[in-house]
Amino acid sequence: MTPRLLLSAAAVLTVCAHLAANPAADGLLPLKPEVRKVIDASCVMCHGEVIDGGKEIRDDLDLSTDELLGRTLASAGKLKQVILEDKMPHKPRLSRRLRDNAELQARLVALRENYKQSGHKEILLDWLKDVTATTGDDKKKE
Ligand code: HEC
Repeated sequence: MTPRLLLSAAAVLTVCAHLAANPAADGLLPLKPEVRKVIDASCVMCHGEVIDGGKEIRDDLDLSTDELLGRTLASAGKLKQVILEDKMPHKPRLSRRLRDNAELQARLVALRENYKQSGHKEILLDWLKDVTATTGDDKKKE
């Protein structure tokens, strides 16, 4: 192939890769408004919220928009598993740069309390009802 052809082939591939849906998020998007509300209230603080000029992102998972969720979710099975096991929302622990911020830590304590009081877990499990929970080892084998 000539260099020019190679370049256009690369461009086409880039576009396709971008449009291709992430199979991990199959059937989960777009989020229903009540699911978006739960994720915004209970998850985005550590998974996509901009705090002090930097995005908080844990485990590369950005839940701040449907599009980013679709792109960054590694395993729906693992997502269900961490919800079933009450591993998420994670106990108050921010990234190192924010860890000494008492106000943010207090916000996280309140966030977890609200998650329990408001039935957020049930709403998320209903959203994931067709997903089989897995340990997420599938992700590491790739
Ligand atoms: C206090 C911050 C915090 C909150 C709030 C939070 N997470 Fe997490 N999340 C983390 C951290 C830290 C990790 C990295 C893995 C670990 O330490 O357990 C993670 C990892 C994950 C993973 C990947 C797990 C894996 O091992 O592959 C998923 C899925 C996830 N979170 C979903 C959620 C969902 C859904 C919510 C809301 C119900 C949520 N998280 C709320 C901090 C948080």
